[in-house]
Amino acid sequence: MNLTAQFEVNGREQRVSTDAKRTLLDVLREDLGLTGTKFGCGEGQCRACTVLIDGKAVQACQTTMDEVDGRKIETIEGLANAGKLHPVQEAFIAEGAMQCGYCVPGMVMATVGLFRRNPKPTAAEITAGLNGNLCRCCGYVNVLKAVQRAAQIRKEGR
Ligand code: FES
Ligand code: FES
Repeated sequence: MNLTAQFEVNGREQRVSTDAKRTLLDVLREDLGLTGTKFGCGEGQCRACTVLIDGKAVQACQTTMDEVDGRKIETIEGLANAGKLHPVQEAFIAEGAMQCGYCVPGMVMATVGLFRRNPKPTAAEITAGLNGNLCRCCGYVNVLKAVQRAAQIRKEGR
């Protein structure tokens, strides 16, 4: 069944006519050209496809278009502001928290989602919050350092 979904992506209104059961991930990448959100497993297992919907981290590969009508979506492309990277992106760079980089957009969006619901997470809460975001290069140590660095900057109000 087809539908016309109206929703916001990174502050811009979008209107897409498509199959109601097509995934948000496919529409972001194929229709809107937002390829920063990655296809990993397509089965809800890796979280490479993490985006924010109404501020909450979700897996775009497990979200169908009939679920996004009227919602606000944020992707990795929307984080930088006036050419300046988001502090979480800067922390990932500062800690060298990437090898091939494929998992990083999902990790960053999961982190931004974590900070929205818990502005000052502890180390244990960070580990729990990113549990489920898989990195096939096993770069977890530097990812956790990056998220802790970003959390510390938030705590210090810098
Ligand atoms: S691609 Fe969505 S969870 Fe793996
Ligand atoms: S850096 Fe390669 S998958 Fe994470």
